[in-house]
Amino acid sequence: MKIGVLTGGGDCPGLNAVIRAVAKSLMLHCDAEVIGFREGFLGLIERNAVSLSYKDVSGILAQGGTILGTHNRANPLSYFGRDGADVSDEVVAYYNELGLDGLVVIGGDGTMSISHEMEKKGMRIVGVPKTIDNDLMATDRTFGFDTAVSIATEAVDRLQTTGQSHRRVMILETMGRYAGWIALESALAGGGDIVLIPEIPYDIDEIVRVCDEREDRQSFTIIVVAEGAKPQSGKMTVRETIDDSPDPIRLGGVGNVIQAQLKGRIDSEVRTTILGHVQRGGTPTPADRILATQYGAHASELIRRGEFGRMVARQDGKLTSVPLSEVANMVKTVPLDSPLIKACHAVGMSFGAKL
Ligand code: F6P
Repeated sequence: MKIGVLTGGGDCPGLNAVIRAVAKSLMLHCDAEVIGFREGFLGLIERNAVSLSYKDVSGILAQGGTILGTHNRANPLSYFGRDGADVSDEVVAYYNELGLDGLVVIGGDGTMSISHEMEKKGMRIVGVPKTIDNDLMATDRTFGFDTAVSIATEAVDRLQTTGQSHRRVMILETMGRYAGWIALESALAGGGDIVLIPEIPYDIDEIVRVCDEREDRQSFTIIVVAEGAKPQSGKMTVRETIDDSPDPIRLGGVGNVIQAQLKGRIDSEVRTTILGHVQRGGTPTPADRILATQYGAHASELIRRGEFGRMVARQDGKLTSVPLSEVANMVKTVPLDSPLIKACHAVGMSFGAKL
């Protein structure tokens, strides 16, 4: 048996743990040959494959990033290297030339939707869900999320002591373009006072009111804001504005916008911290290593059973799989009746909006 593996989209703590689990279990239990593709689908487009030995995938469990490299724009259906041409037939031809019996694709919603299209063209694919944002459909959790939440929580903890000492309003901007999972869980874990998420558009007047109230009572305020949070009035999130500009620069932004909007409206000084890619780098937490290993092992089980066109998932704590068509291009946002939101309400946290 000959199986390929690639990592697509943004990197995420736990990718190497999945590669290791997929490769080791296939090598150990069906003597498979495992081929890695460099930089996601780019490796298939540009014929950049490398044979992985048992030694290559040993000692990488705790390593951040991905030993295969990744690329977040490599799409065979619209290849940037050839003016957006569809090179999918060439990719399928290369896959067949290599004599692959299947391909494990580790990636987020964009990568899963490419995989779904490539399946229709004859490739046999098993997907593994990956994103620090935890916003992939059909699975309770994605690996990388626990690591991101622990880094963001540590940041909230640290902002508490400096914020308290100076009686300031401290804003922490976390990742989370379309969903507020990281902001919500780190605010809950770190004891944030206001949490702003894309699912609940904020009202700056309400944020001012809460800051004023806290200034009288506690003297300092912690605001955790997801990068995709948007105001009740206003068309786009800052992230969308940046992405749509002709020269996209990764400024971060909504934290700075809120700081500017608070200027002159509250007495306290305001400081903003944008956590950025710190949330994605470095070693995965034990929980993420375990989840990534389970996902990798389950992917190899699906391959052995010949169940392709599916993505590994965890539902109600159990490992399972769902058709790729069910996850392609979908986002799992925080439901407004989530127990997490309930808990925030219970301890008096504000969502920067009257609910
Ligand atoms: O989807 C994961 C993620 O880390 C988002 O939270 C963030 O908006 C985005 O990727 C950043 O992407 P890039 O590294 O391309 O700037």
